[in-house]
Amino acid sequence: MSSTAVVGLQWGDEGKGKIVDILAEEADLVVRFGGGANAGHTLVVGEQKYVFHLLPSGIVRPETRCLLGAGMVIDPSALVEEIETCHRLGLNTTGRIVISPAAHVVTEYHKAADQIGEGSDRPIGTTLRGIGPAYEDRAGRRGIPMSWLRYPERILDILSANARRIEPFARQAGVPLPPPEAETHRLVRLGAMLIPYVGDVRQTVSQALDSDKHVLFEGAQGTMLDILHGTYPYVTSSQVIAAGAATGTGLGPSAIQTVVGVAKAYTTRVGLGPFPTELTDETGDRIRDAGGEFGATTGRPRRCGWLDLPILRLAKKLNGVTELALTKLDVLAGLDRIAVATGYRIDGRVVAVPPEDPDQWAQAEPLYEWFEGFEALPKHPSTVDELPAQARRYLQAISDDLGVDVTILSLGPGRSQTLRGKIQGSPDRGV
Ligand code: IMP
Repeated sequence: MSSTAVVGLQWGDEGKGKIVDILAEEADLVVRFGGGANAGHTLVVGEQKYVFHLLPSGIVRPETRCLLGAGMVIDPSALVEEIETCHRLGLNTTGRIVISPAAHVVTEYHKAADQIGEGSDRPIGTTLRGIGPAYEDRAGRRGIPMSWLRYPERILDILSANARRIEPFARQAGVPLPPPEAETHRLVRLGAMLIPYVGDVRQTVSQALDSDKHVLFEGAQGTMLDILHGTYPYVTSSQVIAAGAATGTGLGPSAIQTVVGVAKAYTTRVGLGPFPTELTDETGDRIRDAGGEFGATTGRPRRCGWLDLPILRLAKKLNGVTELALTKLDVLAGLDRIAVATGYRIDGRVVAVPPEDPDQWAQAEPLYEWFEGFEALPKHPSTVDELPAQARRYLQAISDDLGVDVTILSLGPGRSQTLRGKIQGSPDRGV
């Protein structure tokens, strides 16, 4: 048995898509286990740029099978569109994509409910993809599993009840709702295209593990957006952390051997909520521009800030991280000096990790250590020694602090702009 989970350690957008794409080369199966079309993976292969929201990043590798697990919520129109994109790109999907019958359907009512919630006086800054309402309906036992896409009467029954429930709120908010009959018809039409892909994901993964195939679990979003352990209520509605790979696929926790935690060399977040190391000045703007920090799903500008070690220390524990993939180090090139938060001051006390109480967390004042900046990094280095000493020092300080080896270093969007193996930086730190 061999398996790897790839998870984001910050607030999403850490560059997991590229890391999964690289690791997918060695994988027989790539499995998404949570979230839905709120995620966005941008992959650059040669001259081509691909953005996928639902299909695992392994889809661009013709030999890799791609599975969508029970933990997901799936917008059928978005998935059909992605499958059609694959066909346009000449990628075969038959037999390569398997959708769990227990994953849930995102309907137009979920998107409307998301819009209503975001228009209220307690917005979250969601992606408006209907994710939260779809998980609410699943937990409320009024959702639609993917396997039901072949049963129009069941869908109509559920949708009629759901329409009655949200209709008064929709009317008040001025959000239009389709009639349940029309929405049923739409879902059944899309379902006809998706049902051929619905299959036993749990069993497929389990058998693959038993026959020594390599399984890669592809996380979506980032640890700080986890429904249980993130910056609640400014979180997504699914389990984001590595344990979610087990529950969201249908395996025990010991099925995951290696956990690759992906962190950007700085921090970003989209949407509302606490962000202790946020930079609202010119440096933040500069990082946003250099890093192209605009949402792959919504196009929103991302909030940018310094690297936050308390978050990474917590994320290491929450995910059981065994290896680190550090991305976008190149974006920091050209800054005179670079800060890293090494702790927080909360209520006069210094803490090393974010407290479990999100309200305390929101008052955290970061304590910084400064590092010397570095000039442009080589685009395609063959070893870490080609990097300036200041960049290697920065890298080593992060790895030492977390007690985890950096095994992937990404210096740009392309597959070739990557170093792999145990990456040793330089041991001296600070300015
Ligand atoms: P939702 O997942 O659309 O309900 O949004 C809840 C929160 O998670 C918002 O702050 C979103 O911006 C954030 N979020 C959801 N998906 C992603 C992602 O893939 N990257 C970064 N943030 C995300």
